[in-house]
Amino acid sequence: MFKKLSFVLLFVAFCSFSYAEGKEYSVKDRQDKNNGGCIDCHLEITPGIVRDFFSGVMSKKGVTCASCHGNDHDNLESPNIYKCMECHVKQYTQFTNGKHSLAWIAMKNLPEVANQPEEVIKRGCGSCHRIGRNGGMCDSCHTRHRFSKAEARRPEACLPCHAGIEHPQYEMWKTSKHGVIYGSEGATDRAPTCATCHMDEGNHQVPSSWKFLGLKLRQSNIELPGFSEKLLDKRNVSGNKQPANDDKKTVGGAIQNEEMEWQASRKKQIKICRKCHSEKYAEQTFLDNENLLKEVDQLMLEAFETVEKLYEEGILERPTELPTHPDHLEFFEFNSILEQRLYIMFLEHRARTFMGTFHNNPQYTYRYGWIQIKRDLAEIKDEAKKLRDSYDVQKKLQPSGSEKQDK
Ligand code: HEC
Ligand code: HEC
Ligand code: HEC
Ligand code: HEC
Ligand code: HEC
Ligand code: HEC
Ligand code: HEC
Ligand code: HEC
Repeated sequence: MFKKLSFVLLFVAFCSFSYAEGKEYSVKDRQDKNNGGCIDCHLEITPGIVRDFFSGVMSKKGVTCASCHGNDHDNLESPNIYKCMECHVKQYTQFTNGKHSLAWIAMKNLPEVANQPEEVIKRGCGSCHRIGRNGGMCDSCHTRHRFSKAEARRPEACLPCHAGIEHPQYEMWKTSKHGVIYGSEGATDRAPTCATCHMDEGNHQVPSSWKFLGLKLRQSNIELPGFSEKLLDKRNVSGNKQPANDDKKTVGGAIQNEEMEWQASRKKQIKICRKCHSEKYAEQTFLDNENLLKEVDQLMLEAFETVEKLYEEGILERPTELPTHPDHLEFFEFNSILEQRLYIMFLEHRARTFMGTFHNNPQYTYRYGWIQIKRDLAEIKDEAKKLRDSYDVQKKLQPSGSEKQDK
């Protein structure tokens, strides 16, 4: 009996609480002519959206539903980046000058995208590459309808896209010393998050010196093995031609531009470390990273040259029908085990070592990166030897005069 009564009381209390919550909008906002009656209906229809919007800053600064969607319900606007630009020119301009704004084109440019069902692109690749769709999607990091800057600053804002096999930056950061400090203390500013290093002073360009594949186009005056140029020159490794200039700008955005730009960008990055570390410490860390990349690329080049030799000797058939690609993102379409291995070595294991070391993650740098690269190279050489041996045997068995012609 007593129990029942308290239950009823609780229920009443709960109702008045939710009523009070609704009332908060009704007093202040339902009558707000600026919101043109949008709130009245949308509190019933999409309460989550109304709640999110009122928990954000814009609702307190005179921005209304109609500011973005317009007043005409029969012809509602679907707000895009140009709507945001009306009030946020700075972020718009920075974003537009950065790689995120190219994400949609970069994806669309991959030839195999054209062969996939539209839904696969929309729900798969497109869920991440949407960040560059229609000029750019600002809600990729500032989710609707709170549009919060604090939310975007958290590393979780980058997680849905910067994770997984090809680009596990979140995983690398999370299990690095930096990520672990953040994990145990939260956003105390003691350890850097993605935005600390990649969006310094709120820079929406998200600049990077090495970019996706860690290739540099011109590396004449620094002491690296010239791997990028050799790789690009040897793109006939995969039967490809040198990319046209246009290609470099779009898909080839994966490739870093000129030496000058690289140096400037590197300097800026070291300056960010200087918020917490000494100049010497930061500089040495970068040098170590760069030297490691150099070691990796020597092995990478050896692997490419091993395969190239097989092509030259006619032992392995050189693929000819492949579209131009500076970044070998096409390699998994190959049939031979050797070429598959080369693809994994380059896009998975080399990328892990490179990204792992720059994100200060020993696990990725060594265990998932360097060790795998050594194994890849050993296997590639071994496989090449087997191919050559069996080619030689077959050649011996053939009656003279009918030798297979090299292409
Ligand atoms: C008379 C009630 C009512 C009013 C007033 C109203 N809406 Fe709506 N609105 C609706 C209904 C109903 C839907 C459809 C919801 C659904 O699809 O679940 C809707 C949908 C929307 C959508 C989503 C459209 C889509 O394609 O998904 C937007 C955006 C929207 N309203 C904005 C506004 C704005 C801005 C205002 C004020 C200018 C406003 N609404 C006023 C009832 C209303
Ligand atoms: C700062 C701009 C902005 C304001 C203000 C704004 N919206 Fe939106 N809204 C957006 C954007 C951006 C989208 C996504 C459009 C797209 O992807 O095509 C959207 C989508 C929607 C949708 C459909 C998508 C969904 O998640 O269901 C509804 C409904 C909606 N808004 C309602 C509202 C209501 C109600 C208000 C006021 C409480 C409001 N919006 C205020 C920018 C805004
Ligand atoms: C009508 C002008 C207007 C439009 C359109 C507009 N904003 Fe805003 N926005 C503002 C104002 C005003 C503020 C508050 C600025 C301040 O206090 O310095 C703000 C603040 C913000 C903030 C910072 C919030 C915080 O937590 O501090 C973000 C993020 C933001 N807007 C994103 C967007 C996005 C994304 C769009 C497009 C979908 C958009 N805005 C469209 C006027 C606008
Ligand atoms: C909706 C998915 C998505 C989210 C969220 C996202 N990114 Fe990206 N990011 C991408 C894609 C896709 C690319 C590759 C674009 C290209 O190269 O065309 C990219 C590229 C980058 C690059 C490389 C830039 C370069 O010059 O090569 C950096 C740095 C970056 N993102 C940082 C961030 C940070 C930091 C966050 C979180 C604050 C973030 N991203 C959130 C999808 C996303
Ligand atoms: C890659 C994630 C990401 C994307 C995409 C993004 N933002 Fe931001 N935005 C952030 C981060 C992180 C901050 C906080 C920066 C800081 O203060 O450290 C921020 C801050 C802001 C602010 C507040 C600026 C201030 O100083 O108060 C505005 C306004 C804003 N963004 C608008 C936009 C607009 C407009 C777009 C689309 C052109 C956009 N953002 C796209 C991550 C993003
Ligand atoms: C301590 C600073 C720091 C933090 C924190 C950090 N990064 Fe990086 N990041 C770097 C450096 C340094 C590079 C390599 C130099 C370059 O390319 O600019 C890099 C490279 C990148 C690149 C481009 C090169 C590549 O690997 O494709 C992306 C994308 C990226 N980081 C995303 C992230 C994301 C997402 C987070 C958070 C989960 C994050 N980073 C956290 C410093 C940092
Ligand atoms: C989980 C999110 C996600 C999915 C799904 C995804 N990507 Fe990406 N993609 C990214 C990110 C993040 C980068 C940038 C990585 C970096 O800089 O380290 C990227 C980079 C790229 C690049 C290189 C861009 C450049 O710099 O030129 C291409 C091309 C690409 N993706 C195509 C695709 C295709 C095609 C698919 C579908 C088969 C796909 N992506 C699926 C997130 C994604
Ligand atoms: C916001 C402050 C902050 C920034 C910015 C920052 N770090 Fe750190 N970093 C720390 C702290 C705190 C530690 C932990 C110190 C310790 O190991 O005792 C740390 C640790 C490290 C470590 C040691 C990792 C390990 O496994 O022992 C390296 C290497 C490092 N940082 C490199 C960098 C580089 C490179 C940058 C710039 C790209 C950078 N940090 C930016 C705060 C920062």
